[in-house]
Amino acid sequence: MQRNSRWPGFYKLSIGERRKVAAEALGINLSELSEALEGGMGAERADKIIENVVGTFSLPFALALNIKVNGTDYIAPMVVEEPSVVAAASNAARMIREGGGFHAEADPPVMIAQVQLDDVPDAPGACERIVRHEGELCALGDAQVPGLVRRGGGMRGLEARDLGDGMLVVHLFVDCRDAMGANLVNTVAEGVSTRIQDLCGGSMGLRILSNLCDQRKVRVTSRVPASMLATDQLSGREVRDAIVRASRFAERDPYRATTHNKGLMNGLDAVVIATGNDWRSVEAGAHAYAARNGRYEPLCVWTAEGDELVGKLELPLSLGTVGGPSRVHDGARMGLRIVSVQSATELAMVAASVGMASNLAALKALATEGIQRGHMALHARSVAIAAGAKTEEVERVASAIHALGDVTLAAAERVVRELRAWVEVETRVESESPAAPAE
Ligand code: HMG
Repeated sequence: MQRNSRWPGFYKLSIGERRKVAAEALGINLSELSEALEGGMGAERADKIIENVVGTFSLPFALALNIKVNGTDYIAPMVVEEPSVVAAASNAARMIREGGGFHAEADPPVMIAQVQLDDVPDAPGACERIVRHEGELCALGDAQVPGLVRRGGGMRGLEARDLGDGMLVVHLFVDCRDAMGANLVNTVAEGVSTRIQDLCGGSMGLRILSNLCDQRKVRVTSRVPASMLATDQLSGREVRDAIVRASRFAERDPYRATTHNKGLMNGLDAVVIATGNDWRSVEAGAHAYAARNGRYEPLCVWTAEGDELVGKLELPLSLGTVGGPSRVHDGARMGLRIVSVQSATELAMVAASVGMASNLAALKALATEGIQRGHMALHARSVAIAAGAKTEEVERVASAIHALGDVTLAAAERVVRELRAWVEVETRVESESPAAPAE
């Protein structure tokens, strides 16, 4: 059955109600869903994963809605600590689906293994020799990862680069299928390096993947009808043009491009983390790619076409749906079940689409009313908690400081004190008033 990710008002439900709705819609057993999302991992298991463990550390796990990619609806799991990111992504995805949703494509999952050699006597000649031996080196690379080759992956070619002063680097292109690929690629690099050194001479340097995985890019396009962007004060066309100007600002100024991309990574990283993927590698690759032309640039740009706002995003993205934390973290495993993709490339397309939605939501807010109204309304709840509000007090304290236009710790502490004093008086009055006569 075709899934629908349009769940209006989902955010107004309690956690228990949301879990029920999600379990039913996703066909996941409710208790399985609930158990997996209570932290995902205990200290005992954590101790088997990294070193010097003294505990675990939880973050909120949420669902982004309204995501339609290439005609299919997805519920995107998001792990993020920042208020308004999930609301913003769902909000912009809702606008984008009005224009047909996200259109995404991804390259095959090819990673780069780098083998460095120093003091190579004739680096240009060595580069040519490497290329002449491509078949032999690819066969040797495949022999290092027979399981991957059985699954349809393996070596896809190579290139040799002369970095000057006798330094040469060979790039081995490895199709990692549904794995992120770091371990596979490193195995190939180490397994092939001795033969590379035989062919080139010189001394052995590093043998490691590159996180600038520019053979493994994802591209997303979306079209939003201008009418979807209208606010109480501004027409859809006015908002669209303001978003285009905001995008041009990022194209011209690296200071702005950095924040523009941060907003995009808000959503993208959250999906990466929720599915147990390595966000540091994603971040490193994204920012290196943003600077590929010698200046830091936006990863997603917006233009006006006819009556529409058109977004285009491109970035390298190495995600896996097998191996890594997805094997050992119940929350990450559940994240993958929730997003329900058939391959790592499909996951990359969904994650990048959520990134694009986050970027659009932030730009729309910035280009119209400013970020603070929407963000602060949701941020107020964190401030209320920080001020010591109990679970049952949080919503009231948050609404009060938001209504006061003073979302600060001091205001929240004052409201908590006032609320408690008021409740105390109310309780006293109730206990002192004579009981109503029995009927
Ligand atoms: P709104 O217009 O008041 O929302 O926006 P609405 O009540 O009309 O609801 C529209 C949809 O938004 C809803 O659809 C939900 O999907 C979602 P429905 O369910 O009704 O069919 N939605 C929510 N989802 C979950 N929880 C909620 C919620 N509210 C709405 N509470 C909103 C309110 C906050 C969404 C809007 O103001 C917005 O998108 N603001 C942008 C906020 C943002 O971008 N935050 C990211 C952090 S800021 C940052 O760090 C990045 C930055 O520096 C990047 C940059 O500079 O580019 C800004």
